[in-house]
Order: sequence, then structure tokens, then C-alpha cells
Amino acid sequence: MKDGKFLTLGIESSCDETAASVVADGREVLSNVIASQIDIHKVFGGVVPEIASRHHLTAINFVTEQAIAESGASMEEIDLVAVTEGPGLIGAVLIGLASAKALAYATGKPLVGVHHIKGHIAAAYLEGLDSGSKAGMTNDLEPPFLSLVVSGGHTSLIEVKNYCEMNLLGSTRDDAVGEAYDKVARVLGLGYPGGPKVDALAKEGNPSAIDFKRVLLEKGSLDFSFSGIKTGVINYINSAKQAGREIAAADVAASFQQSVIDVLVIKTMEALKQTGHRTLTLSGGVASNSALRGIMKENCEKAGIELVIPSPIFCTDNAAMIACAGYYKYGSEGADGLDMDAHAVLSL
Ligand code: KG4
Ligand code: ZN
Repeated sequence: MKDGKFLTLGIESSCDETAASVVADGREVLSNVIASQIDIHKVFGGVVPEIASRHHLTAINFVTEQAIAESGASMEEIDLVAVTEGPGLIGAVLIGLASAKALAYATGKPLVGVHHIKGHIAAAYLEGLDSGSKAGMTNDLEPPFLSLVVSGGHTSLIEVKNYCEMNLLGSTRDDAVGEAYDKVARVLGLGYPGGPKVDALAKEGNPSAIDFKRVLLEKGSLDFSFSGIKTGVINYINSAKQAGREIAAADVAASFQQSVIDVLVIKTMEALKQTGHRTLTLSGGVASNSALRGIMKENCEKAGIELVIPSPIFCTDNAAMIACAGYYKYGSEGADGLDMDAHAVLSL
């Protein structure tokens, strides 16, 4: 406890970011340290799980120490340790979990395990939002609301009933949207991670140049399917190559992005209609996409929906969101035991 504030130390290591953060009273981010492994994995064109685990192991103690130091607090002043327990790359999750357990055991602090997706959702509670809809304001978001989580591993529409209880309304039946971005970037020769590169290239292209199919599944369904769009892009590029036609990469990127965003917007608007929620949050790595942020904002404004999008730094993997979700979980369910397991797959 510092200045009467409850301090949560968050730890995240489920994919290729080793991250630690100290958050006061669940929402005020005092420090947010992220050691990215992008440069290590990009030569392989994607995350190599075993290499990720080794680098988490090397980085975790330094990252945690730095997060505590930058927060201005000491380890004694930390009230709670919150850590991602899954879903994610199992070896990677284990490093963060083992480290958090050791810290909690050695210092006698309570420990909570956090579902990674609940962390992404909690990012919308953090202060310092820049979505344009709430810039410069204290973030007073409270459940219930609808959340669209778009990341490298997940594309899900989730009804957030309260800080801990969630109801999964729909998710992808094949590729996650971030995965589709990464694969399209690879065939365009843009490198890894593809999302930000497609985002940048799409700004120079025409979004209606190529009509990639929008897959909407059955009427009223809130599930997603992105493998068809991804295959459509790959086929388009292969046919162009075979016919000796030059590929306008920026038009491909812009048209692919437009078809993905159209599907995300249609499904999200349908979910808002079905549930009656008037507040939407957008989070996960792909929520840092500039076109998605802008188009979702326009649609929400037209429909009179309040939209909350975390700053890009809180959209991609970070530990502040884990500290926030852990704070609320501890408040309603108490601490987890030191025998808590890591999970590669974990339902909400
Ligand atoms: O949430 P995140 O950091 O990790 C997971 O939990 O998966 O999301 C990573 C994903 C990657 O697929 C990356 O390409 C995508 O988010 N991404 C983006 C952008 N920035 C990151 N996709 C589209 N546009 C972006 N600006
Ligand atoms: Zn994530």
C-alpha cells in the first residue's frame, strides 16, 4: 500500500512479450515495462515457442525489477501479484507463472491468476485512453458492456456482465484476425509481425480495388471465419504471379483490411443489436489498427454507441491489463493458491 493506494504487480509472458507493470487501485498505471522478442522471432517469420520460453526466462527478473523501480514503489509496498495463467504458449506462460509464484511465496503477498483475454478486456479500464472518444478524460468505464477482442490468437465477441463474469457470444471458427494479417503480410513479403506493416501499407492503397469475399456465416451468427479471406488473398497473388501481372501490394493490403474490418463491424453491430448493450470496448493487438479504430468509431457514433478503445500500447500484450484484471478478480474471488496451473487453453 502506497499513499493509501492498493498496488498490483502484473506479470505477462503468454506469447513473445515479457512484461511487468505496477497499477494503483486497479486503473492507474504507474509503470509498464515490455521486453519484446520481435527481433528474435522475425528471422523465423513467426514466434518459435521454445525460443520464446528461453528469452522469457532471461528477461523476467530484470523486467519485473524495472517495473517496480519505475513505479516509485518498493516490493514491500506491493499488495498483490497478478499473473497470466493462460491461454497461451504453455512454456511461455509457465515462466511468468513460476516467477510470480516465487515472488509471492518469498514476500508473502497474495497471488491471482488472470485469463489473458480477460486481461485484454480490462485494458479498457486503464487510464490514459486516446481513442479520440475519451481522450484526456478519467476513465470511468464500468460493466456491463460488449467487448470485441481481436488479437493474434483470438477474435471474440464477449458480453462483460461484471468485472469477472463474461459470456462468450461468438468467436472465430478458424483463423484469428491477427493471424490472417500475419499470413497476408508474409505472402506480400512484408515480414513479421505483419499487422502493423499491413496497416501502414494499406494507407497507400485503394480499399475497393479488389473485392475479397466477406464471410458472414449463418444469419444472426456472431462467429467469425477469416481463412476464406486469407486464402482469397493468397490465390489472388498466385494468379497474378502466374499471369505475369504486377501486384499492387498497397491495393491488396487495403482491400484485405477493408474486407476484414467490414466483417468485424457487421458482427459487432449485430451483437450490440442482439444484446441491447450501448457501450462497446475494442481491444487486443489488432485494436491498435488505425483503420479499424477509425471505422469502428464512425459506426458507433452513427448508432449512438459509446466506444472505448485503449491506447495502442495497452492493446498489444502488456502487464498493466493483467494487473487490472487481477485487481478486480482478487476483490471478488480472493487469492489463488501457489499450486495454480498454467493453461495452454482456458475457457472464459
Ligand atoms: O494481443 P497481441 O499482442 O498478442 C496476442 O495475444 O495474440 O496481438 C498480436 C497480433 C499480431 O497478429 C499482430 O500482427 C496484430 O496483433 N497487430 C496488428 C496491428 N498491431 C498488431 N494487426 C493489425 N494492425 C495493427 N496495427
Ligand atoms: Zn494478447
